[in-house]
Amino acid sequence: MKERILVTGGAGYVGSVCVANLKDRDYQVLVYDNLSTGHRASVPEGVMLEVADLAESERLSGVMSSFQPDFVMHFAASALLGESMSKPLDYYANNVTNGHNLLRIMVEHDVKSLVFSSTCAIYGEPERIPMTESDPRRPMNPYGRSKLAFEHLLEDCDAAYGLKSVCLRYFNAAGAEAGLGEDHSPETHLIPNVLKTALGLREKLVVFGDDYPTPDGTCVRDYVHIADIADAHEKALDVLRRRTSEKINLGNGTGFSVLDVIKTAEKVAGKAIPYRVSARREGDPAVLVASADKAGKVLGWRPAYASLGSIIESAWKWHVEHPDGYRS
Ligand SMILES: NC(=O)c1ccc[n+]([C@@H]2O[C@H](COP(=O)([O-])OP(=O)(O)OC[C@H]3O[C@@H](n4cnc5c(N)ncnc54)[C@H](O)[C@@H]3O)[C@@H](O)[C@H]2O)c1
Repeated sequence: MKERILVTGGAGYVGSVCVANLKDRDYQVLVYDNLSTGHRASVPEGVMLEVADLAESERLSGVMSSFQPDFVMHFAASALLGESMSKPLDYYANNVTNGHNLLRIMVEHDVKSLVFSSTCAIYGEPERIPMTESDPRRPMNPYGRSKLAFEHLLEDCDAAYGLKSVCLRYFNAAGAEAGLGEDHSPETHLIPNVLKTALGLREKLVVFGDDYPTPDGTCVRDYVHIADIADAHEKALDVLRRRTSEKINLGNGTGFSVLDVIKTAEKVAGKAIPYRVSARREGDPAVLVASADKAGKVLGWRPAYASLGSIIESAWKWHVEHPDGYRS
């Protein structure tokens, strides 16, 4: 019998690619999504979609008892770092209170295995690079703090109820796969904004700060392809089948500056990408690069998209084919 996976936020950018991967691998998948930032069109044909909010306890409870998932993958969240500074109450409500609701209903229905979309934002300014899972966690914004609070809740639920979880701490998710790509509004992520500028959909890219202590003065990040993230999610199920809990970084282990991304995108797109430098954004650490050692050891995970060029190429193809995102 096929294993059943309930995917919250499965109509979003990362979730949709994970859903498509699970469907191809013969799992039975149900997407639970309020479509606040997700897209109906990103849910593959043949996958059940329940359009509902995590706060709707009766709906969620009904889905839990009729679908009886073996696993839950929890992508649903409010995930804009900048917005979290002006709307902390909304961020804690969605990322902690609604997450708590999900866990409560899981426990009530004896569903005790969860993969959680955590983030490198829980670490804050790193003390050393590359960053390992045991490094200090000092998030610099309400988004990161809400995600870390949910990790704490998961630890407590493991101790009290035996609810096992794998927290996958993604660094910067990027790229496109199987006709699925990044379509956020507003878009705050660098690669889609660089490519939209290359397509003439934005006049000029804004680079936030060129006075960081990095080789070219711009922020350095670790970009990881969504197909590799999807692969890690499937591998995380084995950890849960062994009835263990883990916290694992997902990154390529290599850092690229904002200017590296622009230069690589110019090569891929074959055109110059105009940009201007503005002040630093509050809450942006200079360098965030993962140690991917634990993902290799525990999950047997090796990213297939190890080069920035291959990640940007896949995203560029998607943006050329979908200049208006999922409305195209
Ligand atoms: N994109 C990244 O680079 C990145 C990096 C680190 C961590 N993450 C985490 O990965 C997850 C997915 O990120 P994404 O970029 O795909 O975001 P996204 O906004 O594209 O997807 C989130 C999905 O959750 C749904 N959703 C939100 N709140 C909901 C609620 N209360 N009830 C039901 N559905 C709800 C949205 O409609 C959307 O489909 C998030 O948890 C985010 O914190 C993302």
